[in-house]
Amino acid sequence: MAVLEVKNVSFRYGNGPWILKDVSMEVEQGERVVILGPSGYGKSTLAKIIAGYLDPLSGKVLWNNHDLPQNCFCPIQLIYQHPEKALNPRWKMKKSLFEAGEPSEEVLSQVGIKEKWYDRWPNELSGGELQRFCVARVLKPKTRLLIADEMTTMLDALNQAHIWNFILEYAEKHGMSIIAITHNKFLAEKLATRIISIPDINHIEANQDDL
Ligand SMILES: Nc1ncnc2c1ncn2[C@@H]1O[C@H](COP(=O)(O)OP(=O)(O)O)[C@@H](O)[C@H]1O
Ligand SMILES: [Mg+2]
Repeated sequence: MAVLEVKNVSFRYGNGPWILKDVSMEVEQGERVVILGPSGYGKSTLAKIIAGYLDPLSGKVLWNNHDLPQNCFCPIQLIYQHPEKALNPRWKMKKSLFEAGEPSEEVLSQVGIKEKWYDRWPNELSGGELQRFCVARVLKPKTRLLIADEMTTMLDALNQAHIWNFILEYAEKHGMSIIAITHNKFLAEKLATRIISIPDINHIEANQDDL
């Protein structure tokens, strides 16, 4: 049974061009779906709609046959492409990390979080270090679908591989589903139980300026 159903979703920003047109996809429990596609095709926009940060102009997103739950820890958690935009600049790292409860010791050590970073502001860490925080704060059993949008691009290949191996192990253990957005075909082959190409599901012409 599909845990996530995206049904005929269309979206544009304001009066701008259509970014998503009639997009439908499903994800089953424990599935690892990779979305591949060139930039400008609306991958990040779709990720934000699935996670409930943006409302579709038409169509809908169903989680276990219902609308996304509001005002509680969302079972769908998004790791943004740009970690510096995802973290509240007025919160020290510890507050962001513990926002939805304390991460396990295993998560902290496997994701490579150092306690000496807790007392820093987001602008006092590197992109890769911020990305580690963004991963650690959502690796919780109550996260049922993790959306990773170009997540580890700021980490070197070795750390990227280590973090992904741990996420896969964690997801398997907890029956968590994954949507990963990436340009990296090698990563996609390694991760995916299924690969979706966004131009195949998004019925628009891409914004040529961005290609
Ligand atoms: N907040 C926004 N306001 C207006 N246009 C946006 C906004 N965010 C993204 N876009 C535009 O939407 C299109 C798709 O962007 P995005 O979803 O980030 O694509 P992708 O992740 O596939 O590169 C791009 O043309 C981008 O410029
Ligand atoms: Mg993107």
